[in-house]
Amino acid sequence: MKTADEIREEFLSFFEAHNHRRIKSSSLVPHDDPTLLFTNAGMNQFKNIFLGREDRSYRRATTSQKCMRVSGKHNDLEEVGRTPRHHTFFEMLGNFSFGDYFKEEAIDLAWELCTQVYGLPKERLAVSVFEEDEDAYCLWKTRIGLPESRIFRLGASENFWSMGNTGPRGPCSEIHYELVCGNSKVDNGKKPDPAYFLEIWNLVFMQYNKDSEGHQTSLPSPSIDTGMGLERISCVLQSVQTNYDTDLFVPIIQEASRLTGIAYGEDPETDISLRILADHSRACAFLIDDGIVPGNEGRGYVLRKILRRAIRTGKMMGHKEPFFFTLVALVANLMKASYPQLKSSRDYASRLVRAEEEKFSSTLNYGLQLLEEMFETSIKKGHSELPGSEVFRLYDTYGFPLDLAREIAGERGLAVSEKGFYREMEKQRKRARASWSGGKKSVSPTYQILVKELGETDFIGYSELEQVSGRIKALLREGVRRDRLEDGESGELLLDRTPFYAKAGGQVGDTGNIESEASLLHVVDTYQPLPGLNVHRVQIKQGAFSLGDKVRSSVDLERRRNTACNHTATHLLHSALREVLGEHVKQSGSLVEPNRLRFDFNHFQAMSLPEIRLVEELVNNQIRNNIELKISTSKLEEAIEAGAMALFGEKYGEQVRTVAIPGYSLELCGGTHVGSSGEIALFKILHESSIAAGVRRVEALTGQGAIQRFVEAEDALDQLSVDLKVGRDDISPTVIRLSVELKETQKQLEKLQFKLAQRQTFDALSEALDVLGVKVLSKKVEGLDRAGLRSLADQLKNKLESGVVV
Ligand code: SER
Repeated sequence: MKTADEIREEFLSFFEAHNHRRIKSSSLVPHDDPTLLFTNAGMNQFKNIFLGREDRSYRRATTSQKCMRVSGKHNDLEEVGRTPRHHTFFEMLGNFSFGDYFKEEAIDLAWELCTQVYGLPKERLAVSVFEEDEDAYCLWKTRIGLPESRIFRLGASENFWSMGNTGPRGPCSEIHYELVCGNSKVDNGKKPDPAYFLEIWNLVFMQYNKDSEGHQTSLPSPSIDTGMGLERISCVLQSVQTNYDTDLFVPIIQEASRLTGIAYGEDPETDISLRILADHSRACAFLIDDGIVPGNEGRGYVLRKILRRAIRTGKMMGHKEPFFFTLVALVANLMKASYPQLKSSRDYASRLVRAEEEKFSSTLNYGLQLLEEMFETSIKKGHSELPGSEVFRLYDTYGFPLDLAREIAGERGLAVSEKGFYREMEKQRKRARASWSGGKKSVSPTYQILVKELGETDFIGYSELEQVSGRIKALLREGVRRDRLEDGESGELLLDRTPFYAKAGGQVGDTGNIESEASLLHVVDTYQPLPGLNVHRVQIKQGAFSLGDKVRSSVDLERRRNTACNHTATHLLHSALREVLGEHVKQSGSLVEPNRLRFDFNHFQAMSLPEIRLVEELVNNQIRNNIELKISTSKLEEAIEAGAMALFGEKYGEQVRTVAIPGYSLELCGGTHVGSSGEIALFKILHESSIAAGVRRVEALTGQGAIQRFVEAEDALDQLSVDLKVGRDDISPTVIRLSVELKETQKQLEKLQFKLAQRQTFDALSEALDVLGVKVLSKKVEGLDRAGLRSLADQLKNKLESGVVV
């Protein structure tokens, strides 16, 4: 029996032998694609090549791509476990042609792999084609020699593939494997019955693109995108009934079964549960490995949902203690040969999952209480249904699952308004989507026109910073194009070439001056509304500026230099954190300003003081080593091969810029840096805190800012030494001694005050009034705290025997 690892390898090497470049799977977090929450197909990472926006040195590629289908157009979450072959996470094997071969060769290659490499019997194969695609039909019939009875035509819903509502698309042709030997009936126009046929491979003949306005245009050149689910083909080649019976899942199901004490294959209901656990553990291991942490929005929300679904499944199987984390760790062990980075994230992932399991248990209990309250209210009001919005709130805030609410409500003879529930959920989904693509607000068409008209700005600010000549290409005031900006006005300005760095990769935009013969303006910020378009926000200080003016630009050097110190220090910090805390540490956000830097990364616990000090020390060591930075451009794969760290969510072209601090750090980065690490002078961490579950934030200072911090600390110590009248070395023991003495003195003072009050009040006992036969003693005492007052009053009460003490 071929293992899934062998099946994957055979696919990739077959296409390599046919001149395809083997490319690594991209992250599950799509690179800079606001239309996608998760990578959901092999073609995602090549989208811009299909669209003709990007060129690569190869025109054929093959991948095994990590995919998730849990949101948007392709969403299989609800099917998981219930069908033999739906998954949240899966691997898609694919071969791609970027304007190279088309239908004929794609079909030839697919047929050769299926029949000769995988050895599938020809008579068990059937294909579908798009009903209008005569070419594909003829190729299968005459070139491959398939009988007409094995070729069926299907409509657009089945055989016209698109990435989503927008993006590349085209007619496709699917290869199906007949599960039951014999001539299973196929009806033209009808989807083949999944009881008899299993779709194993989708060959997409990429020909069109649809834009956000719904216009469909032809791609620059017809291309090929194919996708074969590794889990399905393994199911066929391992001759098993379902994907869950392949070696990709069996060990996980066995472990889940051992942990829950529930055998697999005995009861259809518990089998579903075991399959859900197996599927979800894979999704969680890979999502966490790609830097996602459970949260309430966007991708984090999906991960949390999957996690909680798994935990709840375990609970419904009667499992009380956290257990799911062990399955997540198991996935890393099983898959690490093909995805070695899983090894380094394994421990972090299992701790993250374990904490989520513990937290979820207590929220479940709390949710049960709230549910009880809802029952009471509904019963009082005579309602037979719980309001969907409230059950959703329970689900959303406390993670309390709908099916559990439904089940418990059912026991009380109540129902749950599911319409209301799903209405609220849809609203939440929209909010979540809006928040994760929030950074990608729609760009004003003015900039889209500008980039088409002017092309990308020539950024020369890596090397030239002062008196850089250029020409004004566009002026805008309040978003509207103008020919001229007058003295005192603010607006935006575009140049043909600019030394001003536009805000990107966490680094702030440059500021500075632009001058012409008689005019001067301040650049208050530089940013990119669209990739490659550097826009300067400006204020005219003197004279006026017109379209076409020749100008000289100068960047604020001091600010740029400080920013560069912070940027290079960010890279050193990243490496030092990985060295001290572990390889799982990955940057999840950063801010590089002239005055400080902020660095977010995934790590499970607060850093201890010794860890913080060690990180500072490592960074400062590299600063003292005064290492010369090596900045170069290379091919993306070569950079990755050389071990360059790439960041999630970042978009990289085929040519990438790498910033090396030789011997210590290598990152893909477009930012501006110091020439040698010694320029940073000093690095000091200010704070370390948590910003979300599993995400930590470090704020730090470098250079002048860090020195200033020491100066202030020194000043404070000197002042203390003067105030305390001791030498600096004695400050700490003196403060300790003083605080002990102070406590002692306070205690004595309290005792004396008590005694004083006692005396005053005991003396006054004889003055107690008689009010209608009741003794009443009232007295004002000073300086006693609550406990002192209580004890004094008790003593007086005893002395009075009976009466009132005020
Ligand atoms: N993009 C196509 C799919 O996802 C083929 O890879 O099915």
